[in-house]
Amino acid sequence: MTGKIKVMSIFGTRPEAIKMAPVVMELMRHSDVIETRTLVTAQHREMLDQVLHLFRIVPDYDLNIMAEGQTLFDITTRAMLGINEVFQKDRPDLVLVHGDTTTTFAGALAAYYHQIPIGHVEAGLRTHDIYSPFPEEMNRRLTGGIATLHFAPTPTAQANLAAEGVPERRIFVTGNTVIDALHHTVRPDYVLPEELAQIDFAHHRVLLVTTHRRENLGEPIRHVYRAIRDIIEQLEDVEVVFPVHRNPKVREIVREELGGLSRVHLIDPLDYEPFANLMARVDVVLTDSGGVQEEAPALGKPVLVLRDTTERPEAVAAGTVRLIGTDEKRVYSETMRLLTEPTAYTHMAEAVNPYGDGQAARRIIEAILYHAGHIHTPPEPFRSA
Ligand code: UD1
Ligand code: UDP
Repeated sequence: MTGKIKVMSIFGTRPEAIKMAPVVMELMRHSDVIETRTLVTAQHREMLDQVLHLFRIVPDYDLNIMAEGQTLFDITTRAMLGINEVFQKDRPDLVLVHGDTTTTFAGALAAYYHQIPIGHVEAGLRTHDIYSPFPEEMNRRLTGGIATLHFAPTPTAQANLAAEGVPERRIFVTGNTVIDALHHTVRPDYVLPEELAQIDFAHHRVLLVTTHRRENLGEPIRHVYRAIRDIIEQLEDVEVVFPVHRNPKVREIVREELGGLSRVHLIDPLDYEPFANLMARVDVVLTDSGGVQEEAPALGKPVLVLRDTTERPEAVAAGTVRLIGTDEKRVYSETMRLLTEPTAYTHMAEAVNPYGDGQAARRIIEAILYHAGHIHTPPEPFRSA
């Protein structure tokens, strides 16, 4: 094949944007052989826009679908109908989707209906439990079932795909693009914004908290917040920074359980640049996020994961991440242990990089060019150090 390949990247939420930004930038660097298109569903609005702004990405198409209280049906149908319209007038040769959101699956299904090949970035992550995380485990499995190219971040993800019968020649182990984004963003001389200036990093230990998982909403997450409240009451030299997700179902419970407490900073979601640089400075991370589980280990930060399953076992195996669930007593005791037992802390605070080396986007674009016959050798696979 000798003509330019038209590649359309489709994404819609904050984490997809952060992880696709390095890919979009790398696609654009290859304008001699690749025609780049970017379509955002805007399943997230503000949280997406801050990432687009940071990486200077101006989408060619913006479906602007977000609505308060949106259901999975709303997101799926609005995204599919909008993408169908775009494909009818601007049909790409390859569609790239990322990860496991509903935008991911809707984008992949729309491409499949048009018989357009799909490249799946961050392919092969599995918990093997279709309700945890929900609906992400099924979104990524279904996307994997119709993708042509699978960009597996790690050898574990590659093995998951191989076990499902995906042919080896269609899987490329690339590393996770989240580490490319992190390299682009975290700097030792970065000055934190005004809203974080009140945190006393010199005298206090700082806990960073993020939560949003659908299956944790309601009682599970309430128990987590109560454990955090008890910790703050016990330890006077601890501060909590909690950028609260914009989902009203998260905000309401956070306010009820943690509102008005001294040394608990409930703030709006941070832009990616301040967030990543904040993460590099805190002591402990409590999260149910996927991306944060990958970033914090690279920065040498112990992570307690507020979930019962993880599709990211690598940092657990390396000892930087512990899966602790949402039981109030367990969240309290595991967090207290890290804050009061220096050896337990040091043991978990080793920087590890099982997820990437900052070269994932390059490998993905090389794999696309190799598959299209533009270059003759595939990219070297990512191997964690
Ligand atoms: C979505 C993804 C999840 C991903 C997460 C990352 C699905 C089903 N869920 O979950 O996989 O891990 O994003 O954060 O694809 N909202 C705003 N402004 C924003 C973003 C969200 O107001 O910029 C509010 C809206 O009221 C929206 C609600 O948050 O209805 C929930 O957003 P939604 O995308 O449906 O679910 P998330 O929990 O964000
Ligand atoms: N993040 C951010 N601002 C915040 C909280 C998180 O930019 O206030 C970034 C974080 O660095 C990571 C991504 O958002 O790259 C994770 O998004 P989220 O937890 O919403 O989704 P998940 O990764 O669980 O799908």
